[in-house]
Amino acid sequence: MTIAFASPVLAQNGDRGERDFQACVPCHSLEPDRNMTGPSLANLWGRKAGSLPSFDRYSDALKASDIIWDDRSLDAWLTDPNRMVPDNEMPFEGIKDSRVRADLLAFLKQATKPGAGSERAAENRMKGMGGMMGGMMGGNHTPNLKTLEPGQRVTAITYCRDTYRVITADGKTRHFWERNLRLKTDSSQEGPQSGAPAILPAGMMGDRADVIFAAPEEISRTIEGRC
Ligand code: HEC
Repeated sequence: MTIAFASPVLAQNGDRGERDFQACVPCHSLEPDRNMTGPSLANLWGRKAGSLPSFDRYSDALKASDIIWDDRSLDAWLTDPNRMVPDNEMPFEGIKDSRVRADLLAFLKQATKPGAGSERAAENRMKGMGGMMGGMMGGNHTPNLKTLEPGQRVTAITYCRDTYRVITADGKTRHFWERNLRLKTDSSQEGPQSGAPAILPAGMMGDRADVIFAAPEEISRTIEGRC
């Protein structure tokens, strides 16, 4: 709000840019070293492409590209990633409208500056208290699985023929066809407590769910073959 007062034009571009950034939020965080499908974009300007040490999933193509991220290279990347780096693994079409790219880069340049990400994280935690998890900014929209409702905390899973029975801490048992239950891990800060996997609904139909474990070795330890 203070920025809007000082410079209405800049703030407007920034607002539009922030809105355009929602296209990136499912895969990119602005918090340092918070990696999702894609690497954290914190401290992006001046960084060599494919070089964030905490991100293990870069394509060979991006690592070998010798690009340094700046206004110009980022504009080319966002126009058409595949043209700039053939065989890169960012599943993104590109943005053809140069004004949209300019707004987005204006926002990103500010939001990726050293220190901006942690302020943003604090902001998101504040917003998150309302229950929406501050999904507006920074990609911080996944619920923290360390603090679970009893209905989300898995205490046991059995497997019989083609059916999983998932028992939660509220005493309820839910049944799933084996193809509808996805078993995942999250070892990050936001992941579940060791020994306390979480169940979250998945998809629109109500017949699917994800069970998220703290580590892969917990999966077979938790699931008991029993009819
Ligand atoms: C569906 C997931 C996804 C979306 C959406 C997405 N990205 Fe990416 N992004 C990735 C992945 C994966 C990589 C790594 C690509 C590789 O290694 O080839 C990447 C890489 C990047 C890089 C290079 C980072 C580095 O460390 O070198 C930048 C910059 C980037 N993305 C910006 C964006 C922006 C800005 C948007 C939104 C307009 C966006 N991405 C949308 C998944 C995504």
